[in-house]
Amino acid sequence: MSMVVAEHLHKSFGRFIAVRDASFSINKGEIVGFLGPNGAGKTTTMKMLTGYLPPTAGTARIAGHDIIRNSLEARRHLGYMPENVPLYEDLRVFEYLQYRAKLKGICGKSVRAQIGRAMERCGLTERYRNLISTLSKGYRQRVGLADALLGEPDLLILDEPTNGLDPNQIRQIRELIRSLATEHTVILSTHILSEVEMICNKVIIIDQGDIKAADTPAKLTHDLRAAGRVSIEYKGELEPVVRELEAFEPVKKVLVEGPLPDGWQRVIVRAEPGTDTREKAAAIISAHGYPLRHIYRHIPTLEDVFVEMTRRD
Ligand SMILES: Nc1ncnc2c1ncn2[C@@H]1O[C@H](COP(=O)(O)OP(=O)(O)OP(=O)(O)O)[C@@H](O)[C@H]1O
Ligand SMILES: [Mg+2]
Repeated sequence: MSMVVAEHLHKSFGRFIAVRDASFSINKGEIVGFLGPNGAGKTTTMKMLTGYLPPTAGTARIAGHDIIRNSLEARRHLGYMPENVPLYEDLRVFEYLQYRAKLKGICGKSVRAQIGRAMERCGLTERYRNLISTLSKGYRQRVGLADALLGEPDLLILDEPTNGLDPNQIRQIRELIRSLATEHTVILSTHILSEVEMICNKVIIIDQGDIKAADTPAKLTHDLRAAGRVSIEYKGELEPVVRELEAFEPVKKVLVEGPLPDGWQRVIVRAEPGTDTREKAAAIISAHGYPLRHIYRHIPTLEDVFVEMTRRD
């Protein structure tokens, strides 16, 4: 069952297009990572899903409710942790959560229980009386997460939940998100590729307002692997080798990285998916009588996928 269906979501600020015609769907129980460089449109997309920012065109459904026509109902199904969690410094943790619960219209007997549960799940129970102004950044993130959990929403939208944390805190928050995912569908944004590989079962790569890919981390790296990036080091003239490589059918581009300090040339060959250019490249180089000392087909990481899809050259 789809938890989120975005249909042609589009956002312009004046003439600037921040998000262009974004369509994607997210199934119940998935942990989805929005991955993209600064300014890619991650936050804008999230804000549209939460109903905080009206799309210029297109719409989305959250648990079947249209974010425009049925925004209240859609919002009831989601918890949002914004990029910079706005906290009230002079409130205590539980007071802040009480206040937030009230704003969200959570009332009756369940309030205390819900706040207690959210604090417990976020490891805040021992800090419930602490003033927010005295909390470390990691604990503030936890308060933001606990806030998002109030109302027990089906969907959590977390904008850079590990931003600005030290490696230990990052690990703790990551574990926390993973545990939340047993009961919630989660969308998070990040710049940290390894994070996506570690916790997400789906990645949506966004760049300059466009969705470049949406798939599992394994599938994305597999596709790039098939595209076969081969690096070569040989000693000889650059021009004839590059020309002959470029003339070879599956080759898309030859990037010259050399000459290296020791005088050897290094070139990188990018080719069509499903091809392997190593044999041909070696034949070309040996036909010139040039020595070849290195030829290697790269096993890409998600980082390679990201760089490949968001590079500007
Ligand atoms: N209210 C606004 N008015 C004008 N431009 C905006 C507004 N909000 C966002 N933008 C622009 O839209 C683009 C996308 O911004 P967005 O915040 O969605 O990026 P992001 O992917 O979240 O980046 P980051 O990784 O830095 O958080 C940016 O170029 C930004 O400057
Ligand atoms: Mg952002």
